[in-house]
This record gives sequence, C-alpha cells and structure tokens, in this order.
Amino acid sequence: MIFGRIKSLDAILATAEKKSLHRSLGAFQLTMLGVGAVIGTGIFVLTAEAAQKAGPGMMVSFIIAGFVCAVAALCYAEMSSMVPVSGSAYTYSYAVMGELIAWMVGWALVLEYAVAAGAVSVGWSGYIVGLLENALSIDIPKMFVLGPYDGGMINLPAMAIALLVTWLLVIGTKESAAVNAVLVVIKITALLLFCILALPVMKMENFEPFAPTGFMGISAAAASIFFAYVGFDAVSTAAEETKNPQRNMPIGLIGSLAICTVFYILVAAGVIGSVGAQPVTGADGLALATGSSELTAACSAIGDNAVACSKEALAWTMRSIGWTQVGNLIGLAAGIALPSVILMMMFGQTRIFFVMSRDGLLPAAFSKVHPKYRTPHVVTIITGVFVALFAAFFPVGKLADISNSGTLFAFAMVAIAVFVLRRTDPARNRPFRTPAIWLVAPIAVLGCIYLFISLSTDTKLMFFGWAIIGLIVYFAYSRGRSHVGQGQMEVHEPEIADIEPPVPGTRD
Ligand code: ALA
Repeated sequence: MIFGRIKSLDAILATAEKKSLHRSLGAFQLTMLGVGAVIGTGIFVLTAEAAQKAGPGMMVSFIIAGFVCAVAALCYAEMSSMVPVSGSAYTYSYAVMGELIAWMVGWALVLEYAVAAGAVSVGWSGYIVGLLENALSIDIPKMFVLGPYDGGMINLPAMAIALLVTWLLVIGTKESAAVNAVLVVIKITALLLFCILALPVMKMENFEPFAPTGFMGISAAAASIFFAYVGFDAVSTAAEETKNPQRNMPIGLIGSLAICTVFYILVAAGVIGSVGAQPVTGADGLALATGSSELTAACSAIGDNAVACSKEALAWTMRSIGWTQVGNLIGLAAGIALPSVILMMMFGQTRIFFVMSRDGLLPAAFSKVHPKYRTPHVVTIITGVFVALFAAFFPVGKLADISNSGTLFAFAMVAIAVFVLRRTDPARNRPFRTPAIWLVAPIAVLGCIYLFISLSTDTKLMFFGWAIIGLIVYFAYSRGRSHVGQGQMEVHEPEIADIEPPVPGTRD
C-alpha cells in the first residue's frame, strides 16, 4: 500500500519529550521572533514586482496574502505545538499521511527554504549595490551584479553573501536574542522612517487607475508577495518553549503577521502615493512580465525611472522624493538585516535534509556531523553551493515565486494533516488547538490553492517538474532505503549541537 508507511506519532512525541525545554517565551518575545523572521526581501524588494503585476492594487494583494498566511499559521501552530521536533511539516506528514506525502512535503520544503535563501541573497545584493553606487559613488559593472535575466551575467554579491552565510552555519553560528532584537529595531525603524517621509507627500491621483491589470493582476501580485510573510514558522517552532501556548502562540503568530501586514500596507501606500506604481508596459499597452528581458529593456529605455524597475524599491523611492541620505540609510538597514533572514532559511533547509537523511530517504552523508563544530557540515555545504548558484543566476522575483509554490504546497498539507488528525486521533494532547478548525483549515487549504493557481505558468511548471523529479528520486532511491520501510520504527534524537531553527534567544 503506497500510503501505508506511517511513522508512529507516539515514537516521535517520545523523542520530543526527552528534550523538554524550559518554557520561557511570552507573547511579546514570540511576536518579536516572528517580526524578525518575516520582514525581509519581500517588502524591501518585491514591492517593485508587486507594483509591476498589480499597480496600486498591490495594497489589496498584501491583504490577501497576509490573510492566507494567518489562517495557515493557525494550523501550523497546532501542528508544531503537538510535534515540537525538527523537520516539523515533514515529520508531521510522515505520522499522519505516510511516507510518500512526507517525502513530497520535504521535497517541496527545499523550494521553501533553499530557493528562498537564494531570493533573499539577490534582494540583499540589490540594496548593497545601490548603496555602494549612491553613498560611495562606486560604480560596479552591471555584468557582475545582475543575473542573466536582469541584463547582467552573474550576481557576484548575491553569491558571496550566500557563501558567507554557509560558512557561518558550518561553524555553528546562531543569532542571539539581543542580535535579533537589534535587527528587528533596525528593520522597523527603516520602515517607519520610510512611512513618515513618504506618506505626507502622497498624491491621490497616483492611486488611479487602482487596478490597471484587473483582479488577475492583484491575485498574481498576492501570490508573489506571499513571500513577504513567509518565515512565521519560526514562531511555531518555538511552541515547546512557550509559556501558556494556548494563549501566547496565536498572539505571537497573528500579532507578528498583523504588525507586518500593517507595515506592508503603509509602505505600499507610501510607494504608490509618493512615486506612483503603475506597471511598465510594452508597445501593446500591457504590463510586461516581471523578470523578463522585455521588462529590462523597457526599463533601460525609460532610464529605470519607475519603481517597478528598481532592485531596491524603498531606497529608490526615498531618493526619488529627495531624501537621498535616507535612501542610503534604508539600504544600509537592508544590508545589515537581510543576512539573518538568509541564515534562518538555510538553517531550516539543512535541518530538513538532515532529518530526511536520518530516516534513510537521503544519503547517510547528509547527516554527517562535523567533529568540532557539531553541525551537519556536509549538507550545509551542499545547500550553500546550490543557494549560491540560484542567487548568482536567477532574478529575485522568479526565485521568490518558486519558493512560494513549495511553501503553499507544504502549508496546505499541514492544514489537511491537522484536520485529519483531529478526526483520527481526537483525544491526543494538543497544547494549542486551532480555533474553529472545521472552518480555518479548509480556508487555509483553499487560500493556498488560490495563491498557487495565481502564480505564473512558468512557476507552476517548475513546481510540477520538481515534484516529478522528487517522485523519481523517491521510487528509484529513497523508498528501498527508508528506515520505516525496513521496519525500524524508533526515532533518533540527532546528535548535532542544535537541531531546531536558530530561534533567537530561546536556547541560550
Ligand atoms: N519573509 C521573508 C522575506 O521577505 C522571507 O525576506
């Protein structure tokens, strides 16, 4: 029976219980954690993509994406409070829906984490290059700071930051609570400053036409901007360290998403109102596709004089309305804060691979632990090389969209699994219960499907291509080597220094 290989939830929970961490986090810390993990390339960079796809209607896109994330987050929270072990979505699916689905979720999480890390690296590069050019008048040839789709050859800064983060992860770097707090303050200050300066110069006529690409455009922008909210899973993974999770988890999750949504909408309004956000159009008057060479050419023709052309949307907007130094400061803020988002994403990826390898589904070398640093160095280096290659050659919007496709799949699966387990195992202890599960879970699944459908055809094809490769690898390699398939049911506690995501400050 193809769906018959199920891991025992009791065995997983027995492992988790052994860890029994101190419950120290309250609602405020959880919210900070969420804001720290969530704000990144999405708002700093992809605002330009959203403008190109939806024009001023991108404000609605931010609301739609935030809502889908909020319902998915509530399901995620029940799962992670029940199964507070590494590889959460993958492990949970293994217990509820069997090995094949778990494999597909793990395979999709590669998109969520590794490809996202590539996207954030490209976003970082855009801001650093802009900063060097504007603050220090260092002109770097486009050839070396943009990928081929954006009119360059290779994005060296993006590649460099991905490799630097890989090295930090190999030597076991973690972010402390203090560093996370400082980064949150830096990001919030940058966004606040942006709103304070951009909103007062808002012109209402810039909001007209509000939806130049119609509802399709708004949906497409929502599907891309979904990326701006990803990362809240960091809050869920802290479930076992949370005081009174039934109260604090939803406050942390929904609170951080609410804060981000409010900021995102204000920032979007600031961009639209101050510099306008109409899409760049081709000869036929239609908006050009993001990440296309046609858009690059059209942008060059207008001297990149549209927010949709910018690789550093917020800094560009500030400079355009006369706040050159503030634009540079925002660039600096992004330059300082984005690498921690890359770190969290890559960390997540290495731990998922690690657990899949421990289950026998990936080669044993993936779970090799460095003798000195106690980190899974082999898999970290492999991940890092791929992330660096994605970052070097692909545009940020394409990477973000591909990452979203995997994330949406995983979120939908989690919502289904949470729902199924309520029926099949209602008596199990759930430290956090999703409110109105019969409503929230189906809405989460439908929301994920809607956003998935709204992604570009290219992205959907990539996703299905990736899924097919995943199935081939599973049947050709993993299925025969699976430990569960061979009857080994016990769940190991990995011997690496820290298997959980680098949830700032919760371990030290
Ligand atoms: N939400 C994260 C970002 O926007 C992934 O960078």
